Amino acid sequence: MDWTRVADSADVSATPRSVLVDGVPLVVLRPAPDRPAVVFADRCPHRLVPLSAGTVDGGVLQCRYHGWQFDEIGQCVAVPSNGSDGNIPPCADLPPGPAVREDDGAVWVRRTDVHEPVPLDLLSNVDPGLARAWHPVALLDELPCAAPQLVARVLSCGFVRRWTIR
Ligand code: FES
Repeated sequence: MDWTRVADSADVSATPRSVLVDGVPLVVLRPAPDRPAVVFADRCPHRLVPLSAGTVDGGVLQCRYHGWQFDEIGQCVAVPSNGSDGNIPPCADLPPGPAVREDDGAVWVRRTDVHEPVPLDLLSNVDPGLARAWHPVALLDELPCAAPQLVARVLSCGFVRRWTIR
């Protein structure tokens, strides 16, 4: 079956919710009461913190850690440490989430759109436009030589996927 139910529509609100589809963490939210539900990987592109720990204000999802903000299509609209005049590079945007539909009182996502992240792809966010953004976790050239392999192992075993801020 290509579509899988992730939540009752009535339970999807401006409070982000974490759900798992085939073991992959996703965040589900409704940016505003009259807007459709949106779904993204539950992972901030900055330091991989679960976006489900964030908050929504004015239709914008804000990461709980350093405050990057994302609109309902996943475009990054604010990186606070870059200042009000700082450019926001495309690599700060959320990767496209899975296709979403709502019917029968539920939110569904297309299962074939849900993929485990490739660990080393998470570690390549080197855009100089983010130099003032408390470097992404992704700066491979800042890591000791064995560290990339270690980080890849940690990511692939699910440690980061299950990590939540408390
Ligand atoms: S981890 Fe999300 S803004 Fe830094």
